[in-house]
Amino acid sequence: MCGIVGIAAKKEFSSSFLLERLKRLEYRGYDSYGYYDTKNLEKFVGEVVVTGDNHTKLGVAHTRWATHGGVTVENAHPHVSCDGRIIIVHNGIIENFAELKKELIIQGHRFSSQTDSEVIAHYFESKLKHKDIKQVMVEFFRQAQGTFAVLVMIKGDEKLYALKKDSPMVLGLCKGMNMLASDIYAFSDLTDKAVFFENNEFAIITESSWKFFDKNGKAINKSIKKIEWENEEKERAKKKDYKHFMLKEIEDEPGVVKRMLFSMDNEQKQVFNKVIKLIKSSKKIVFAACGTSYHASLLGAYYLHQVGVEAQTLIASEFKHYANIDKDTLVIAISQSGETMDVIDALKYAQEKKARIISIVNVLYSSIQRMSELSINILAGQERAVPSTKAFVNQATLLLRICQELGYKVNLSNLADKIKALLEQKEDIKKLAEQIAESKDAYIIGRGLTYPVAREIALKIKETAYIHAEGMMGGELKHGTIALIEEGTPVISLVNINDPDIISNTKEVEARGAGVIMITNNPALRKEKNTVYIHTDNDGKFGILAAIAGQLITYYAADYLGRPIDKPRNLAKSVTVK
Ligand code: AGP
Repeated sequence: MCGIVGIAAKKEFSSSFLLERLKRLEYRGYDSYGYYDTKNLEKFVGEVVVTGDNHTKLGVAHTRWATHGGVTVENAHPHVSCDGRIIIVHNGIIENFAELKKELIIQGHRFSSQTDSEVIAHYFESKLKHKDIKQVMVEFFRQAQGTFAVLVMIKGDEKLYALKKDSPMVLGLCKGMNMLASDIYAFSDLTDKAVFFENNEFAIITESSWKFFDKNGKAINKSIKKIEWENEEKERAKKKDYKHFMLKEIEDEPGVVKRMLFSMDNEQKQVFNKVIKLIKSSKKIVFAACGTSYHASLLGAYYLHQVGVEAQTLIASEFKHYANIDKDTLVIAISQSGETMDVIDALKYAQEKKARIISIVNVLYSSIQRMSELSINILAGQERAVPSTKAFVNQATLLLRICQELGYKVNLSNLADKIKALLEQKEDIKKLAEQIAESKDAYIIGRGLTYPVAREIALKIKETAYIHAEGMMGGELKHGTIALIEEGTPVISLVNINDPDIISNTKEVEARGAGVIMITNNPALRKEKNTVYIHTDNDGKFGILAAIAGQLITYYAADYLGRPIDKPRNLAKSVTVK
């Protein structure tokens, strides 16, 4: 997944303005970047550096997460045709690029990169010899297979051409300029007016006009959406005096939990009640999610089970292999970005099976939200760090709130305060984190609702501190994995007072020399060494608070190791490729 930006303006803007817009999308991928401003085409490896004062009225920029082809300057976008007239940036994968490339090479085109995307520039150059740009765009939809959000510039032409199929694209109507981007955060401080592309559409954009067409070239009318920005949105987006966004976003958790719960009784009350009704009336419930959001869905399935509602949860990339669904099934998609291609694919499968679809997202107007019959916004605010923290907490809390409505006994009114109390322990947690920082491997064990939390903490440790970590069921450890426990192996044990069996699992690893860190809500254990004590006797809240303790352990271990933290290597915030 990558980030793309295109600007057509009445007045000249600087290349640093263009790159500043791109920087806001860097969480989508940061292996390399580049831009074209009608005079200069610059490409770099690494994160976006906002600089340069070339001036232009038209430009495109791209920040890359490598799919086809290594992280090199040649593979960075924009890509250019042989004759230098066509410049393109692309987010997605052209699945039949090899076939198209072979044909173009026979025609004499020479390629300079290993990417699939470069084929688009040569394709347009070749077709424009005999057809006009609109016809070529129609033909591109017919011939290109895969996913794409493409911006095309033609030297000497004052327009931007935008094509969208599966990968996200939105048009921001800003003062004195029109801005195309992968998502609304590119222009969230410039306008609250946007036009969203649906699939299989293209558009011709100038500084003061925008014309949309369907994939057959038929003009279509599009409505302007007013984006309801939260005032503190802009405030929250700033890192302020934090070393990393990840720590800032963990510290945001009490506030965003409160805001989300408040909205369930106020501005989102109607959709919340409809979701409850749909869950009650559905014969079958299946979650679809990836990564951290999948771990939230595991918690959701656990909570629902406590109130007698059976739910299955499937990792989205495997959905169609395991989902036995039909018109009586409710599919619940959970996605922070609302753009994860694996989840979109799962929902397309659900649509084919006529299942009903609802979603829990954190990005307004995202593709997954727009594929849903109902969608609840977790209101965590923009999450800039790739390792998800506040979004996970709000996902899990929302699921708990839904189950509370279905009869699960939990007092959520004090959850924000309990998170605050836990955050006050961060200096002690930092000391514990430094104990595991030098380890090669770590194990996190839980039972019942803390099993999903163990999985989530392991993912956090892997993706942020680059320490191999395994989150597993405490009861399963003795069926093999315990062979890996040796003197000093770190084991984080999630000791829920209501599930004492985890104690024997903890003793089993201690007996083999493991260095145990305990996260517990059992008052009898609060004085134990290497222990984080969480004051709650409610399972649901303990799970969420234990996850936050795990986030802090992860953060401090990663910081101790000098990891990048907000932008871990090889990762991106929104995975819009399969
Ligand atoms: C989160 O820490 C991870 N970076 C990743 O697993 C993420 O949760 C996953 O890619 C799903 O993203 P989504 O919630 O935006 O769909």
